[in-house]
Amino acid sequence: MEVMRYRKGSPYDKRRLVKRAVTRSKENPPWRQLTHEWSYGLISAHQNSMYYTDKIRSLQNIFGIQDIELLDKTLRVGSKRYPIVDDVIILDPPEDSSGAFAEDIQYTFGAEWQEHGAILPEHAAEFAQYFDVVDLPSLKEARVCDLGCGSGRWSYFLKDRCRELVLVDFSEAIHVARQNLRGSHRCIFFKGDITRLPFATDFADFILCLGVLHHLPIPCLDAVRGLKKYAPRLLIFLYYALDNRPFYFRILLALVTTVRTMLAHIRSPLFRTLFSFMGTLFIYYPLIIIGALLNPFGLGRYVPLYEFYRHKGFRRIQQDVYDRFFTRIEQRVSRAQILELKSDFAEVRISDHIPYWHFLLLR
Ligand SMILES: C[S@@+](CC[C@H](N)C(=O)[O-])C[C@H]1O[C@@H](n2cnc3c(N)ncnc32)[C@H](O)[C@@H]1O
Repeated sequence: MEVMRYRKGSPYDKRRLVKRAVTRSKENPPWRQLTHEWSYGLISAHQNSMYYTDKIRSLQNIFGIQDIELLDKTLRVGSKRYPIVDDVIILDPPEDSSGAFAEDIQYTFGAEWQEHGAILPEHAAEFAQYFDVVDLPSLKEARVCDLGCGSGRWSYFLKDRCRELVLVDFSEAIHVARQNLRGSHRCIFFKGDITRLPFATDFADFILCLGVLHHLPIPCLDAVRGLKKYAPRLLIFLYYALDNRPFYFRILLALVTTVRTMLAHIRSPLFRTLFSFMGTLFIYYPLIIIGALLNPFGLGRYVPLYEFYRHKGFRRIQQDVYDRFFTRIEQRVSRAQILELKSDFAEVRISDHIPYWHFLLLR
C-alpha cells in the first residue's frame, strides 16, 4: 500500500508533491502566507490525519475530553473541528482583540525560523545549559510540552528522553518544528496561541517555555503565572535585565533597543538577511574577539556578548542577530523580580549560569 501511494505519477508521488510545494511557495511566498493565512503551512506537501491514529488517547488527555474523533484532515474535539495540516493540528487563530496577541511577533518568528530552522551542532551544548536545573532522567515517563517551540530545536534533544512531546507555536515555525522532528513518532504538533490554549488542567507533566513570554504584549511574569495550571514543573527562560552586569551593558542595551524599535517593522527578507549577516560580522564578532583577548586575564565576562557567543558559529550567531533586531516586543526581568514568583510556586530555582535568567518552577 505504502509503495502504491508513492508510485511515480500517482497523486502521492514525492517528487510531484515537493514540486507542487515549491511552485506554491513561489506563487505565494512565505511572507505573504504569513500575513494572510492561518491554517496553511508552507511545507504542507503531505496532508492527512493518519499520523494521529495511535495518539487519540493522548489527545483525549490533552483536551480533557473523551469525545474525540479523527476525520479526514480534521480532528473533531466535541463540537469543535480543528484542521490538520502537515501533521500540525490547527487550533483557533489568535484573537486581535484579546490584547495578548501581536501579529508582528507572529510574523517575525515565522520568517525567522523558516530562515534559521536548522538544528546546529552548538544547540546540543545550549540544551544542556538550559536544562542544568532539570533532572533529565525524571522526564523519562513524562509528557513534555514545548510552548512557543519555534523550530523545535530543544524538543529535538528531548525527543528520546521523554514519553511524549507536545509542541505548540502560533507562527509558521511549527511546520519547521514538524520537519525537524520527522524521525520521531512521539510528537503532537499544535499551531496555536499559548495564551489561549484549549487544553486541560495538568495536561502536561513538564513544560518548557524558553525565550517566548518576554515577546508577549502582556507582562511576562503574569504569563508565567498563567501557565501554572498546565503542569507541576515549568522551565522558563526570560531575558535578564542585565542586573548581574556592569552599568555599560545597560547603556549598550539602550542603544540596541533604539535600533531594534526602528528595524522591527522592516519585513524585507533581503534586508533582514543582509542586516543579520553584517551585524554578526561587525557587531558580534568584534566583541567576541575582544572578549577572547581579555579572557586570559579573567576579564571575558566584562565584554558584552562574549560569554554566550564565544563557542558559536556564524550561522548560529546570525540567527540571534535576526532575533534581537527584528522583534518589536522585548521585556526584561531581574533575578529579584523572578523571585517574586515564590508567592505563586512552592519553589523557584534560578540557574546561576548562562543563559540568564532560566529557572525551574515547582508547584
Ligand atoms: C525566540 S522564539 C523561541 C523559540 C524556542 N522556544 C527556542 O528557544 O528555540 C519565540 C517563539 O515563541 C513563539 N510565540 C510567541 N508568542 C506566542 C504565542 N502567543 N503563542 C504561541 N507561540 C508564541 C514564536 O512564534 C516563536 O517561535
